[in-house]
Amino acid sequence: MLIDNHGRKLNYMRLAVTDRCNLRCFYCMPEDGLNWLSRTELMSYEEMLRASSLLVKMGIEKIRITGGEPFVRKDIMKLLTSLSQLNGLKELSITTNGILTSPHVAEMKALGIRSVNLSLDTLDADRFFAITRRDEFADVMNTLNELLKHDFEVKINAVVMDGKNIQDIIPMVELTKDLPISVRFIEEMPFNGDNDSYQGVIWDHVRILKEITSHYPQIKKLVDPAYSTAYNYQIPGHKGSVGIIAAYSRTFCGTCNRIRITPQGTLKNCLYDDGVLNIKDLMRSGLSDEELERNLKNAFNHRVADGWEAERLRVEKTGVHESMATIGG
Ligand code: 5AD
Ligand code: SF4
Repeated sequence: MLIDNHGRKLNYMRLAVTDRCNLRCFYCMPEDGLNWLSRTELMSYEEMLRASSLLVKMGIEKIRITGGEPFVRKDIMKLLTSLSQLNGLKELSITTNGILTSPHVAEMKALGIRSVNLSLDTLDADRFFAITRRDEFADVMNTLNELLKHDFEVKINAVVMDGKNIQDIIPMVELTKDLPISVRFIEEMPFNGDNDSYQGVIWDHVRILKEITSHYPQIKKLVDPAYSTAYNYQIPGHKGSVGIIAAYSRTFCGTCNRIRITPQGTLKNCLYDDGVLNIKDLMRSGLSDEELERNLKNAFNHRVADGWEAERLRVEKTGVHESMATIGG
């Protein structure tokens, strides 16, 4: 078992496989995209497997693949196949924007993947274009249908943005009436790849809940699963549930069980830190697994208490405006 210096069990890793994306969600990256990492800057699949295998031996039980958009990276199914065979890994899941996903749904199911998080901020094609700067709403809905057809546990992630998709909150809650999905509303964070366009969190978790409660006064609080980052609710009679994630307010740090590896191989102990070591560089410098493990353990023994401390300790202060795509959503 992996325990950090605050007594928290670490059993969950988020592995970002690319910084590239086929959307340009304005809360994540500028219209022109980012300065994409070159192939040699990215971790190779072999390196990801070696790191994952070691971390699973050390105590990681669940891996979530993120990006950028995972399906933009060539041969992603090969990586998923290898990871799905890792001894000791209890759960493999993926976060995707759904544009390229639908042809792979059946194969993902065959690999034993049970849950998929789908990023979708609106149910309106025009607003989808305004938010993502791409006209591919229909593909995402197609992926949602495929996932449901194959009985995946589906969570929809919707970032709540003032002036952009507030009118979608209630229709998205309404989706849970007939669909057995979890619709999760996320506070907007500063990670948009830009230095000064973040306005602060206008729709925090309290305001989001108020908006939902005003339409559904009968809403009930559910018991949140252990390590949940979401406050979970259900409208009585609805098949699905609703979650609110205080990603900016950071109310969940006390039970943080997660680590992140960025596309360039940086280990992050916290979404808000600027990286504690680079696993890829250590592997390329010829470290043995034992040496690598020692470095990782040392990093896990120096985790900060919460995201506020992580932000304060950042060396590169402006870096808090890095893109979610280089962090691993
Ligand atoms: N604030 C909140 N959530 C974000 N995501 C990307 N950028 C931000 C941001 N600035 C979310 C996406 C996706 C997940 C990977 O991260 O909506 O669901
Ligand atoms: Fe792409 Fe996700 Fe960033 Fe949108 S939020 S640009 S889908 S990586």
